[in-house]
Amino acid sequence: MNVVDPTVPAAPNAPVFPIVELSTVEETRAFGRRLAALLRAGDLLVLTGPLGAGKTALTQGIGAGLGVIGDVTSPTFVIARVHRPGPASGRPALVHADAYRLGDAVDPRAEIDDLDLDASVDDAVTVVEWGEGMVEQLVDAHLRVRIDRRDDDSRLIELVPVGGDWVDRLATLS
Ligand SMILES: Nc1ncnc2c1ncn2[C@@H]1O[C@H](COP(=O)(O)OP(=O)(O)O)[C@@H](O)[C@H]1O
Ligand SMILES: [Mg+2]
Repeated sequence: MNVVDPTVPAAPNAPVFPIVELSTVEETRAFGRRLAALLRAGDLLVLTGPLGAGKTALTQGIGAGLGVIGDVTSPTFVIARVHRPGPASGRPALVHADAYRLGDAVDPRAEIDDLDLDASVDDAVTVVEWGEGMVEQLVDAHLRVRIDRRDDDSRLIELVPVGGDWVDRLATLS
């Protein structure tokens, strides 16, 4: 199955990333840990998919992969949270936001920076749930992650690299 994103014109010869099937929430978290291996400060991930798709579950895996301290829970009532890694980890912090709560913000990155979270998006990996349609025109690069739930409760996850060096980095996903 090929990744098709009608809103992003495919670059000539752009590699196509397979859609990954995740049967259980544990598999979704494990995929988040794998993804975390290629993340670095300044990254923006835009998670899309219906309520209950597993956006927060995936973010929990990313947090685990970055070695953050404490649990990553749904930010629905707080707009955004910073999760810091242990002192010796050398990995960036995770800023976890719910764009649902960002109101009329047109630029979640600016909005998140405005929250005075004691972490700048340039120094953190920023994961925004529900960010679709908000950031595409505003940031140079991001990774779109779309999660869909199937009737048998498994999930299909597709990664859409937008700009930057995401294509090359995704090729290193192991
Ligand atoms: N394969 C799967 N991947 C992710 N979540 C799953 C999966 N199967 C069942 N679930 C359940 O679906 C729910 C996903 O919730 P959550 O991650 O909060 O979704 P979202 O943040 O997209 O609203 C959890 O209760 C989780 O246990
Ligand atoms: Mg959620």
